[in-house]
Amino acid sequence: MTEYRWSAPSNIAFVKYWGKKEQQIPMNGSISGTLSHCRSKTSLKILSTEQDQFHLEFYFAGEKNESFAKKIENKFHQYFLNEIPLLKNCSVRIESENSFPHSCGIASSASFYASLALCLVEFEAKYSSDSQEFLKRASYLARLGSGSACRSLFGPFVLWGGESMEYAEPIVKVHQDFKNLKDFICLISSEEKSVSSTLGHSLMDGHPYRDVRIEQANMHLDQLKSVLEAGDWSKFSNILEQEANQLHALMMCSTPGFFLLKEKSFELIQKVRQWREQNSIRVAYTIDAGPNIHLICHSDDADKLRVCLEENSSLLENCRFIEDEISGVIRNEHEH
Ligand code: DP6
Repeated sequence: MTEYRWSAPSNIAFVKYWGKKEQQIPMNGSISGTLSHCRSKTSLKILSTEQDQFHLEFYFAGEKNESFAKKIENKFHQYFLNEIPLLKNCSVRIESENSFPHSCGIASSASFYASLALCLVEFEAKYSSDSQEFLKRASYLARLGSGSACRSLFGPFVLWGGESMEYAEPIVKVHQDFKNLKDFICLISSEEKSVSSTLGHSLMDGHPYRDVRIEQANMHLDQLKSVLEAGDWSKFSNILEQEANQLHALMMCSTPGFFLLKEKSFELIQKVRQWREQNSIRVAYTIDAGPNIHLICHSDDADKLRVCLEENSSLLENCRFIEDEISGVIRNEHEH
């Protein structure tokens, strides 16, 4: 039996991917920051290579999980078996665990599919695991699992939609001021979302603001690339916050429209605006498809922000926030 073991972090989008075409090709490019501590560790065991047909079993956090197994198996039939025909006669066991608590509002699909993709590329054995081609291929496969996952292979800042919409690439030119960012993940609610990301993406087809959104995303993409290079904090926070607001405005204007933000999400946003002014904290909020708020903060101001959050912990579910940083490295877990 051969086993491959990799871990990969989650990521938070600064310019959002929202809306896609066939084959998981995004409607527009996106930029993200890769986290460090919030990650998935995944192992792929090849139990047999002589099956009549592909067979998969899936364990999450040590327990067999049939409903996740179904979803993952669909991805194999839809994409991975065609990409890696050798798998068609394999029986595999996939085991995965997250370093962050379940239902805490951090999407685990990005870190899971990124870590699984790394296992798959090692199994293919076409590229050496320390080459750029290896990571490019992993990013391509991760995208087929879940779009945003293709950005989790690189860090700290990542562009999806630069040289290709099929995989992501690291952003190389980054100003010193953006090299040590923190992400305070503020948990507002861990309730299951009323609308899944998959459905949300599909509601961008025929959306009345689709063309405007593509224009805006492209503009933000260009601006953010320049801002990351030049190191302008106030422009950085403007772009992040406009992107978060636009994402949720698009949801509200879909047919049917939907709301993922909670009252406390808005309350926290107002507070963040005050803290920024009153305490001179370099902080920007961003939000994915859910009610939880990510506060991206300059590491020199992290102590001040932590105090503000602790004083306002009643806004947070179980007074909880997770402190992470924007850095992002993948790891071959066989070597650890
Ligand atoms: C709002 O990557 O979860 O987080 O490709 O259908 O798996 P699928 O969608 P997913 O969508 C992420 C949407 C987002 C924005 C982003 O991460 O860019």
